Amino acid sequence: MAIDVIVLAAGQGTRMQSELPKVLHPLGGKPLLSHVIDTANKLADVQVTVVVGHGAETIKAKFSDTRLTWVEQKEQRGTAHAVAQALPKLRANSQALILYGDVPMIKLDTVTELLDLVDDNTLALLTAELGAPTGYGRIVRGNDGEVRAIVEQKDANAEQLQINEINTGVMCLSSEALKKWIPEINSNNAQNEFYLTDIIAIAKSHDHGIKTSQPGCLHEIEGVNTRSQLAGLERAYQSQVAHQLMDQGLSLADPQRFDCRGELLTGTDVFIDVNCVFEGKVSLGCGTRIGPNCVISHADIGNDVVIKANTVIEGSLSKGVVTIGNRVQVGPFARLREGTVLAEDVRIGNFVETKKAQLGQGSKANHLTYLGDADIGSGVNIGAGTITCNYDGVNKFQTKIDDGAFIGSNASLVAPLTVGVDATVGAGSTISKAVPAHNLAVARGNQRNIKGWKRPSEKT
Ligand code: UD1
Ligand code: CA
Repeated sequence: MAIDVIVLAAGQGTRMQSELPKVLHPLGGKPLLSHVIDTANKLADVQVTVVVGHGAETIKAKFSDTRLTWVEQKEQRGTAHAVAQALPKLRANSQALILYGDVPMIKLDTVTELLDLVDDNTLALLTAELGAPTGYGRIVRGNDGEVRAIVEQKDANAEQLQINEINTGVMCLSSEALKKWIPEINSNNAQNEFYLTDIIAIAKSHDHGIKTSQPGCLHEIEGVNTRSQLAGLERAYQSQVAHQLMDQGLSLADPQRFDCRGELLTGTDVFIDVNCVFEGKVSLGCGTRIGPNCVISHADIGNDVVIKANTVIEGSLSKGVVTIGNRVQVGPFARLREGTVLAEDVRIGNFVETKKAQLGQGSKANHLTYLGDADIGSGVNIGAGTITCNYDGVNKFQTKIDDGAFIGSNASLVAPLTVGVDATVGAGSTISKAVPAHNLAVARGNQRNIKGWKRPSEKT
């Protein structure tokens, strides 16, 4: 059966107090609306239509997926009015499923369970039992237990306000029925709005059955109206991701101090200490350990790697991910930027920054170094304080250091430059000419010792 999803996302989101349209605020690093669209897109034979209003252009510009259909609701006159804008897009004989751009955690299972209840004569409604139902539309059932209607908070009488079963807003029915009944809805209610919820009583009056199902967890139906709610949902989302990963074999020092803002893939026996943030696509090979307070973006990290405390790894999709081979050790306090590629057994120590730098097997840069635009062979030792001077203020240049070279401490390597196999650079040198293989290059002022030198003893 073809499924036409209608995602309502036209509301202003005033209470977010934001220039950014509400549905673009991120949850787990991804816009709220993307979560809903991604879940919807997992359905078979699906077409997704998004109803936008406030910030329509900004929202549309964020999505490049050409399968999406957009419709505009210029004035927000209620949820039924929003759905009405999407009616011309519905395919013949499809089932229409209503979702919400600001209810991001709805699960595929919940949706498919609901879809299973629908047929040509049955509407399916997702409801929930809440201890504190204030604000929600209430599900009114008859003595036979059948759903009769939904009554909005502002239209409910004292007795109806006591009902704990609420309307989540999510529903599904044949698109033919939806097309027929939406025009029957009027705005004679406390808010002068066209309520989608009125469709229940209309369906009933046409002898349509109403079936209900419930979500597996209440976070699935939680909407975001305020930044506090968004932060609450973020914790719920992160907790879900953390527990999913732990079920697959990841060890987390504390699932409450873990943030995944993208996609994290982990091998067996990976350990992640507290307060780490993962962004974009990150993979961690078997036996790898991540120390506390690390931020890791777009990185492919091998087996038995040790990333020590306070390391920042900043791969980039457009400028190059960071690739780290097996048994590498990094940090503490290292910064690996875009295009860094470390072969097996490399060591990067504290206060080392790398950018578009490749280091071959077993090479080391253990302290206080900048390696940018550098192609470094295997078994190379980079002394403390070494700088690749890769930028002349206008252009960037490459430094190439061959296998087995030894760069003494505090060397300035002025690119473009090559240092040959097994060459040595003396400490404190400024090297601007190629160093042939096996040579020693020293380029520093000669030392003078001044005998009997007295330091000034007072200010003159
Ligand atoms: C709605 C339901 C209520 C349910 C609640 C669940 C109606 C009349 N009421 O109430 O029964 O318990 O959701 O959260 O449907 N929107 C538009 N265009 C509009 C109006 C709304 O796109 O003209 C979108 C909003 O952006 C929002 C969603 O629809 O994402 C819900 O609208 P909202 O006004 O928040 O509905 P509620 O009053 O919360
Ligand atoms: Ca609402």
